[in-house]
Amino acid sequence: MSPILVRRLRLGAAFVLLAYLILHFTNHALGLVSLNAMETGRWWFLALWRSVPGTLALFGAIAVHGILALWLLYERRTLRMPRWEVAQYALGLLLPALLVAHVVGTRIAWWRFDAEDPYSRVLFTLWLLNPESGARQAVTLLLAWIHAAIGVHYWLRFRPWYPRAAPWLLSVALLLPTLALLGFVSAGREVAARAQAPGWAQAMLRAANAPDPAEVARLAAIRTGFLETYLAALVGVFAARGIRRLLEWRRSIQITYPNARVVAAPRGFTILEASHLAAIPHASVCGGRGRCSTCRVRIIDGFDGLPAPSEAERRVLARVSAAPDVRLACQTRPESDVSVEPLLAPSVSPTEAFATDVRQGREQELAVLFADLRGFTSMAEHKLPYDVVFVLNRYFEAVGTAITSAGGVTNQFTGDGVMALFGIESGPATGSRQALAAARAMVEGVDALSAELGAHLGAPLRIGIGIHTGPAVVGRMGWGESFYLTAVGDTVHVAARLEQATKDYTAQLVVSEAVARHADLDLSGFPSHDLSVHNRVGNVPVRVIDRVTNLRIDWTSARNEDRGGHEERMRS
Ligand code: FES
Repeated sequence: MSPILVRRLRLGAAFVLLAYLILHFTNHALGLVSLNAMETGRWWFLALWRSVPGTLALFGAIAVHGILALWLLYERRTLRMPRWEVAQYALGLLLPALLVAHVVGTRIAWWRFDAEDPYSRVLFTLWLLNPESGARQAVTLLLAWIHAAIGVHYWLRFRPWYPRAAPWLLSVALLLPTLALLGFVSAGREVAARAQAPGWAQAMLRAANAPDPAEVARLAAIRTGFLETYLAALVGVFAARGIRRLLEWRRSIQITYPNARVVAAPRGFTILEASHLAAIPHASVCGGRGRCSTCRVRIIDGFDGLPAPSEAERRVLARVSAAPDVRLACQTRPESDVSVEPLLAPSVSPTEAFATDVRQGREQELAVLFADLRGFTSMAEHKLPYDVVFVLNRYFEAVGTAITSAGGVTNQFTGDGVMALFGIESGPATGSRQALAAARAMVEGVDALSAELGAHLGAPLRIGIGIHTGPAVVGRMGWGESFYLTAVGDTVHVAARLEQATKDYTAQLVVSEAVARHADLDLSGFPSHDLSVHNRVGNVPVRVIDRVTNLRIDWTSARNEDRGGHEERMRS
């Protein structure tokens, strides 16, 4: 079965089950209002889930989710996995056995014997007649919720917006089951109070057409039949795994890792499974689902003997601009001996997962900003070293805050100059607008600093800024402690030249036409020039902006664009 199809089916089924769980909990929470409110909520709940489409969706989702879980359990070659995945699997395999009694006692009883299952009857059983069963049911629902929450977390954690949304989602994840349990308790008490009235329980059970002893026995047989079938399926999966293992070990291959470490693995294992088998630390943030790319390896030898990558693998590799000899270890099942080199550290984080590999770099379009303090060198000659450092640090604080607040990455502080990158994740259009917004905030910050330091400076600080947008190679570069995200290439060179040109034009800002085009900004009102750049063929058309405040742009929205991406990078 194609991995993409499996993933889509699992996701679709999981969505349906999650929706069911959320509505079920919400219905329970209505018990905090009253038993009657719960019953009214239940009417709507059943109108959805006991309708024909609702029934098909729910039982289809249960079947798909369950069958695919067993299929994936068979498919994976090793059961060594991260703890979160162990918990996810264990809960997933346990839940059918825990839930069957409740499902048979309500839905199946209704379906086979017309037995209604209003909250009054269910709570009468779970709260008064069999509280152990009630406690077990509450724990089961919580386990189902935890299973769902783990799934949602590991599904969403690669989204750029997720770190910001996570606290809110966690609040909902804690609040909803809490309210559901409180509703359950509150309604249970109400049922207990009502049951004090003579004849109430008998009338309620009669109205609900509760199953008689013979029907109860048949329901018990259905439950036992399901449990036996489920157990047999589980045993079957493990038996099939054992048989396959025996067959595959007969045809083992060798995978060579760095430092000449050689691992013999059964043919059919993925490279990641071989790493796990040999206890070789290997990054796999998504747990081998082919989504994070952290397991990627460079194939040193044996590339031609590998099966072609699936469409899904190709897409993930393209997303990180992987070189042609790179494959996802979790998706590649070598048929013959290979030699590999894992590209990311085993401890890599989800954020780093999508960063381009350090050694590969990535070519992309982005906005590059250079800024420099005008006349600071001569000003510094008349100051004590301590004063120079103090002023420079305040200046770097002002411009650094302006850059990061606009969504950029401060990249280099050299002397009184600074370089910043914009649009690494959001692209050149957003990056150009952010760079312009940063330029304005930098000028404002420097003006405010001049006003604050006043006479201490002698003359107000002045800043010159150059911005250019274009292709550059972006990657983490450096050595030792000084290893940071930076860019190299013609665009950087041009941006630096534009910053120098601010001196010639006595302007605060010089931007290339490319910036205006990407930012969708009309700069026709500002003087234009064709600027020559050393070692570059052809001039660069630029606009000269004497005062940044003369620019008309929606600064707030420009600053807010891709703020999440910036925060993400800062966290990493
Ligand atoms: S482990 Fe995530 S893509 Fe391979």
